[in-house]
Amino acid sequence: MPSWRMSRTFPGSPVAIAEARRFITTLLRTWPITEDAELIISELATNAIRHSASGRFGGSFTVSVHVDGDRLWVGVLDQGGPSLPRLLPPQEDEEDGRGLNLVTKLAADWGVAGDYKGRIVWAALDVKPSKATRR
Ligand SMILES: Nc1ncnc2c1ncn2[C@@H]1O[C@H](COP(=O)(O)OP(=O)(O)OP(=O)(O)O)[C@@H](O)[C@H]1O
Ligand SMILES: [Mg+2]
Repeated sequence: MPSWRMSRTFPGSPVAIAEARRFITTLLRTWPITEDAELIISELATNAIRHSASGRFGGSFTVSVHVDGDRLWVGVLDQGGPSLPRLLPPQEDEEDGRGLNLVTKLAADWGVAGDYKGRIVWAALDVKPSKATRR
């Protein structure tokens, strides 16, 4: 399977979440992991807007997709700030604190790089090439 990468920058506004999801589905089309990747990007982009400087007026975030062999990496680069992405204990009766728990469930691995000037939260998913039906 060929290796490729692509990224796009979106305005740091909630309406851009749907655009970021569409970016993923347009790139990955009917791959079996497309839905998972779309959900992950939705959570990470929402976090960038809610918890980092990307959500300020004029802010932005960048979505990256990288396919190499049977592995897919997706990531959201934000504009940093004092808060750190961290896994909160899952709480059944609370509405918040679920995003990164969902990422943990869906991804083979995930992590954070960067500092207060900008952080990338990335997730890796395993693609099953035999099932890929890219047209
Ligand atoms: N990109 C980010 N920059 C800074 N802090 C972050 C970022 N993403 C997450 N965090 C921190 O990690 C915490 C956990 O994130 P998570 O997505 O699991 O929960 P949440 O965003 O608080 O709630 P939910 O996703 O359920 O609406 C957040 O409350 C926030 O403090
Ligand atoms: Mg969240």
